Amino acid sequence: MNSDLVRSWSVGGTTANARNFDSTTLWRVEKPDSGVELDTTWRMLQAVGAAPRGMQEGILRQPNFLSDDDFANLTQIARRIRPSAVPIEGPYGQGRLWTRFPSFSPAVELLASEKTASRVSELVGEQVVSAHDEGLELRVYTPGSSMDWHTDELLYAAPQYELVLTLWNSSDSRTEWRDADGRIQGEWTAPRSALLVRAESAAHRVTRITHGERVIVKAVYTPTLARPLTWDDEDLGEYI
Ligand SMILES: [Fe+2]
Repeated sequence: MNSDLVRSWSVGGTTANARNFDSTTLWRVEKPDSGVELDTTWRMLQAVGAAPRGMQEGILRQPNFLSDDDFANLTQIARRIRPSAVPIEGPYGQGRLWTRFPSFSPAVELLASEKTASRVSELVGEQVVSAHDEGLELRVYTPGSSMDWHTDELLYAAPQYELVLTLWNSSDSRTEWRDADGRIQGEWTAPRSALLVRAESAAHRVTRITHGERVIVKAVYTPTLARPLTWDDEDLGEYI
């Protein structure tokens, strides 16, 4: 059995390790070198190949993320719930609105589906599942809205991925991020394009909008549903 260390990351100040066993990966959160298991949740995940180059930096752009029909259906649902969006405050964002898709919505069914999770898995280079607990959110940027520089907080025992799928965008906003060399990259996010952002990786922001509207769907995918050891449900801050 091959027990090469393939990944490690910090969990509440403790380093967690993932070890690869042949064609599958077993995730085990343990104290380094001690063998003490801190998280009894083990997941056996099929290896899905190396992450694309962009994902190695913690952020990946993907045009035409959904099929024409799926995107049209999702946008139609989003336009129906758009009027229910209300202001959301947080340490990084200004002037944004949000609402949540009902749990029974076909939009949730689509983005939590095995088909979509498999698509995300291919893109990020590891198998992930939909993080239902985080819900499916509609986020609305109007004139004056922005999001300051930040990295997404760790919500699970392994870094989760945030999917930001642009539905419509008549705004002049740019989404920017720092690449591995520390340079700022950025773009206007086109409708149907997706950004996948790994927690605790690339710093990113959304520049202030002066006109128009940018509406996105936010969904979360994760290699494990186990929470970090220090997890506190009351402490779920804004992290997007
Ligand atoms: Fe974010």
